Amino acid sequence: MFRKVLFPTDFSEFANKALEYVKKLKEAGTEEVVVLHVVEQSYFDAYEEAFAWAGKNIEEETEKLDEKLVEKAKKDMEKIVSQLEGFRVKEVVKIGNPWEEILKVAESEDVSLIVMGSHGCGRLGCTLEKLIGSTAENVVRHAKKPVLVVR
Ligand SMILES: Nc1ncnc2c1ncn2[C@@H]1O[C@H](COP(=O)(O)OP(=O)(O)O)[C@@H](O)[C@H]1O
Ligand SMILES: [Mg+2]
Repeated sequence: MFRKVLFPTDFSEFANKALEYVKKLKEAGTEEVVVLHVVEQSYFDAYEEAFAWAGKNIEEETEKLDEKLVEKAKKDMEKIVSQLEGFRVKEVVKIGNPWEEILKVAESEDVSLIVMGSHGCGRLGCTLEKLIGSTAENVVRHAKKPVLVVR
């Protein structure tokens, strides 16, 4: 039933909790896991202003930052993949708006389930103040696939 699972992660402790459930889904017949990290486009927008203010070439600097963040994400992803022994694993790194990219990948990979944390950690740190994080909320709101939100 849940043959192929999408696990979107911001590498936070909340997402790591969800990862524990992904592992358990082996017993429910899950064979394949797509691990997705989205480098937030909004970070770039903020940095662009700083680059402009510092009189730097925005395109050049953004490209450098872009490469660095994607590289870092790929490294962080290795730690996740090493925990997914026994599954077929696909790693995906995108740049954009997290919830939109999560929905796009859910469709293009035709996954049977999305497993994610209820909260996350972003540029402004981790917070549990809201009932549910904004990425999780938008995924639940718009997804055509079932979503397992791990609190
Ligand atoms: N940039 C991202 N890339 C992939 N998955 C993400 C990203 N940001 C959040 N997620 C997923 O969404 C879950 C909920 O995070 P989010 O809704 O962003 O909470 P918050 O608003 O507290 O940051 C995370 O545990 C993670 O599974
Ligand atoms: Mg977030």
